[in-house]
Parts: sequence; structure tokens; C-alpha cells
Amino acid sequence: MAIEVRRASADEIRELRLSVLRPSAPREPSAYDRDPATVHIGAFEDTRAIGCATVFPEAYDGEPNAWRLRGMAVEASYRGKGVGRLVLEAATAVPQEAGAPLMWANGRTTALAFYERLGWTSVGEEFTYGPADLPHYVIIRRL
Ligand SMILES: CC(C)(COP(=O)(O)OP(=O)(O)OC[C@H]1O[C@@H](n2cnc3c(N)ncnc32)[C@H](O)[C@@H]1OP(=O)(O)O)[C@@H](O)C(=O)NCCC(=O)NCCS
Repeated sequence: MAIEVRRASADEIRELRLSVLRPSAPREPSAYDRDPATVHIGAFEDTRAIGCATVFPEAYDGEPNAWRLRGMAVEASYRGKGVGRLVLEAATAVPQEAGAPLMWANGRTTALAFYERLGWTSVGEEFTYGPADLPHYVIIRRL
């Protein structure tokens, strides 16, 4: 499997992000796609997007210079092969290189073990979030 992990445009990763995370949502840009500070990371096999994540500056609990992670997704048939790790590590490098002290996200409970393997910790109680009201935790990673 020859996988390239690199910065990507919103257009390159939108279909993957929505098909994995919000299959019934309209195929429209997210508000954060329009923010010039937003960075998308894609994993590609040839030209096909198989993994993605998005990061952008967003304050967290008294930390004004925090960055937020959204849209972490790997195509179902590629899971468990290390693609998510490569994408999340590349996404983490962006705020790290910008000097941010911390990243945060609303992480699905079903993905919590994945994030914990990569140095993230959950904070507080589980809550439901998003259009499907799925269980989540706030998760953070100190940089
Ligand atoms: C969560 C997700 C991105 C993980 O991607 P992936 O490519 O399967 O993850 P990787 O293969 O890179 O796994 C990295 C590590 O996390 C572990 N891991 C991954 N998913 C796991 C799970 N569900 N439970 C326990 N451990 C898990 C792997 O074992 C691996 O550990 P190792 O390196 O020590 O062997 C992927 O399963 C996915 O897209 N899920 C659906 C969408 C989703 O829930 N996104 C997160 C929204 S917050």
C-alpha cells in the first residue's frame, strides 16, 4: 500500500469526510473550510483520498492559542492499517510548528481508544453532540 500523507484542499477531502462522518449531510463546504487559517491533511492512495483530518485555531477553556481538530476519518476498508495514525500525526505537526500549546476536539466515544493511543486524554463527562447525537468526550493533546 503506497500512501501519501500531505496537506490537501477542502475539495480533495470533503467527500471522504462527509461520507464517513455525516453520510446524509449536504455536500457543502463547512464553515471552517472557508477560514484561511484552516489546514486539511489527506492520506491518498494514488489520487484517492482514504484518510483526512482538519485543524484550525480555536480557543479552548482559557487557552487562547489552542487549535481544534475536526473531521478525523479513514475510509472503512483502510482502517486498522495505520492510516489514521499517519494523518493524526501530520495534523498534530501543524499546530505544533505554529507554537500552539494544546489541541482539542470533540471526540467520538467509539474513537477514544484511537486518540488515547496517540497521546490524547479525555476531559470531563461524556456528552452527546452533532446531528446524530452520538456520544462524545472533549479530548485534548498537549503539544
Ligand atoms: C478512528 C479512526 C480514524 C482510526 O483510524 P485507523 O486508520 O483505523 O487507525 P490506525 O490503524 O492508524 O490506528 C492507530 C492506533 O490506534 C489503535 N486503534 C485504532 N482504532 C481503535 C479502536 N477503535 N479501538 C482501539 N484501538 C484503536 C490501533 O490499534 C493503533 O494502535 P497501534 O499503533 O498501537 O497498533 C477510524 O477508525 C475511523 O475513521 N472511524 C470512523 C470515523 C470516526 O469515528 N472518526 C473520529 C471522529 S471523532
